[in-house]
This record gives sequence, C-alpha cells and structure tokens, in this order.
Amino acid sequence: MRILLFTGKGGVGKSTVSAGTAAMSAARGLRTLVLSTDAAHSLGDAFGLDKALGSEPVQVTEHLYVQHVDAQRRFEESWAEVQGYLLSVLDTIGVDRIAAEELTIIPGAEEVFALLELRRMAVSGEWDTIVVDCAPTAETLRLLALPEALGWYLERILPVQRKMVKALKPVLTKAAGVPMPGDSVFDALVRLHDELAEVRALLSGPEASVRIVLTPERVVLAEARRSWTTLSLYGYRVDGVVANRIFPAGGSDDWRAGWVKAQDDVLGDVGASFEGLPVWRSFYRPTEPVGVDDLREVAEAAYAWSGSIDPLAVPETAAPFRTETTGEATVVHLALPGLAQWVERDQVQLGRNGDELAITVGAYRRLLTLPAALARMRVSGARVEGGELRVTFSRQTTNTESE
Ligand SMILES: Nc1ncnc2c1ncn2[C@@H]1O[C@H](COP(=O)(O)OP(=O)(O)OP(=O)(O)O)[C@@H](O)[C@H]1O
Ligand SMILES: [Mg+2]
Repeated sequence: MRILLFTGKGGVGKSTVSAGTAAMSAARGLRTLVLSTDAAHSLGDAFGLDKALGSEPVQVTEHLYVQHVDAQRRFEESWAEVQGYLLSVLDTIGVDRIAAEELTIIPGAEEVFALLELRRMAVSGEWDTIVVDCAPTAETLRLLALPEALGWYLERILPVQRKMVKALKPVLTKAAGVPMPGDSVFDALVRLHDELAEVRALLSGPEASVRIVLTPERVVLAEARRSWTTLSLYGYRVDGVVANRIFPAGGSDDWRAGWVKAQDDVLGDVGASFEGLPVWRSFYRPTEPVGVDDLREVAEAAYAWSGSIDPLAVPETAAPFRTETTGEATVVHLALPGLAQWVERDQVQLGRNGDELAITVGAYRRLLTLPAALARMRVSGARVEGGELRVTFSRQTTNTESE
C-alpha cells in the first residue's frame, strides 16, 4: 500500500493535485482513496460531486473513492472519556461550564484525530493507494509531531501518575474534593496514544511520502523550504515538489511576459532549493480543473515532467534517520535537507538527557528516543554537514548526564 500526503501553503493547489493524483492511481486500476483532513473540505467540489460527502468513503469512479473525515466526530469519540474527566475537575474547582468546555479542547487536535481515520483505512486492507489532502503547512507539521510528543508523556509520566493515583485516591478525593481519574480515563489515553503511534509509524514508514505543493512565488518558496527541513526533522520522507499554477509563456502581453519572467526566476530557485528531489511542473489552466478527467490530466501533465519517475512507486530514498557503526563509534545521521537556506547553524541545537536526544531547528523541536545501544553511549561530537545532522556516539561509560 502506498500513502501519499500533499501539503503546502493555503490555496496553492493541494486539493487539486491530491485529487488528480488519486484519479491517476485509480485509472491504473489501483483501489484508491483520497481523503481530506482539512476541516474546510473541498474534494467534493473539485470532483464536481453534487451529493454531500459523508464520513465514509463515497465512490467516484470504479476504483476511486473520496472521503471527508469528520474530525469533530472522531475527536469526540476518542477524547470524550478524557474530556469528561477534565470537565469534572474544572467543575469542582468552580470553573464555569462553558469556559471549561473550551479549556478541554486542544487547538489543532481535530486534525490529529482526522489522521486516526487514515489509520483505520490503512489497516482495513481495502486500499492500494491512500492520498491525503492535508491542511496548510504549519498545522500539518505540528500535528504530525504530536504522537511522538504525547508518547513521551504517556511512556514516562503516565505509569507513575497512575500508580500514585491508585495509592492516593482515597485520601486525595476526600481532602481536596477533586475527583481522581478513573481507570477508564487512563485506558482512553493509552488507547489514543497507541493509535496515534500507529499513525505515526504508518506516515514515517517507507511506503509513505510527503509531497510539497507550491506556486512559484518567493514567499511560498520560503515556507516550502522550511517544511522540507522540518518534515525531515520529524522523520517524514519528502519525495517531490509540485510547482503549480505556472503561467505558460507566449503571447505579446507585457503583463503576462512579466509574470512568466518572475515565475521563471523563482522556478530556478525551486530547483536549486530542492536539490535531489523531482520538481513537477503544473501549468495554470485557462479554467478551474473540476471533475475526475480534468484533475487526472493536471496530475498526469505534472508528473510527465520527470518522465522516468513513476509517481506512484515507492521511491528509493534513504531513511531520514539511520545509524552507522565504525569501530568504537556510532554515527547517527538525521536528514535535515535545505537547512542552510533558512536557518543559521547556531539555530540548530542538540540536547541530551538520558536516552533522549532533543534536536531543535529554529522554532521546531523533536525529542528522539535513542535505541538502547546508543542510550548507553556518550555524545562525542555533532555537526551539520551534507544536508544532515551527524551525531557521533562513543562507547565510554558515563552516568546519564545532560550536555
Ligand atoms: N493548475 C491550475 N490551473 C488552474 N486552476 C487551478 C490550478 N490548480 C489549482 N487551481 C484552482 O485554484 C483554486 C485553489 O486550488 P486548491 O483548492 O486545489 O488549493 P488548496 O491548496 O487545496 O487550497 P486550500 O489551502 O484552501 O485547501 C481552486 O479553485 C482550483 O480549481
Ligand atoms: Mg484544499
């Protein structure tokens, strides 16, 4: 099974390219699902469907299905138990009900819950290709990192808390009057964590790729570069860039010639910025591409730009995180492509705490839990080189320390 995620700044053509790629996959006879996790769904409009899309896949052609994930419903299903508990605590300490409800909603969480639907579809075994039309860049990045962050909390703090709560429950409930979480709350959290961890495993696995959609404009390119680095930081494989809404050259109109020239300059930078990745070009059509055939044509024309690459095959890209042992030292390679273009070297920071490596790039941070073998070694060097962060670990017994 192949999973393709499309991300990019607002309005660049994510839904169009996602839908087109899905239509292309289905035309090959592959069982294809395209789903959107963005609350502002527009896949139905792109396909020109007049029936309202429900939260289950709706058939468009023989092999093509489309689904608008009802994030709100998924959120309620998965979060209800925990929210119920939080509400009872807030109620006890006198927080107004409406304010309390707002407090128990995590911003951006809806989209994360929408990804749980992706997991359900992936494990169903019913699909050969799943295409995901993501919400604009920033949110997607943040949300993709959540399972790991939540996992950190659940693995370390939760078991301790759970034990403490068991022991202290009778005393505390009496003294403070604050209700203690029951087992069902913990169970709901653990289940949620496990499911999110599966989503993350799916999305960072070799069969999943992220594609960045952009338009040839400076501001859009700047953001796309940052996405490339940060997506890699979180362990996702970016396998290509779609440059959309390119004005075709021709005619004698100065206005058009001006735009063609400006876009051409930026396109040159796009190629240089995403070295090693295919940059697929998609021209600005005279009308909005609507309907399966139009959309498929957009995708086919774009992918034809790099004829030798099959856009649906699993690319042979190196894993974003790999280790290499020579003698006494092990080097961890973490891909951070495009880094030099938007971040100063000193904005990359590395921290170590026991079995964890905290990697900070600009405003983004990833907590990486080290494999057991590395956790026993000490960091003896780190540098940014050749589009990666290389951290050298040496076999030298030390106590866990912060560096
Ligand atoms: N190559 C193209 N030629 C002409 N029109 C296009 C092209 N690509 C996209 N469009 C049109 O541009 C508009 C925005 O495209 P689309 O909805 O795919 O963007 P998006 O990135 O999904 O936006 P959002 O961030 O709002 O979800 C749509 O009306 C779409 O039909
Ligand atoms: Mg869209």
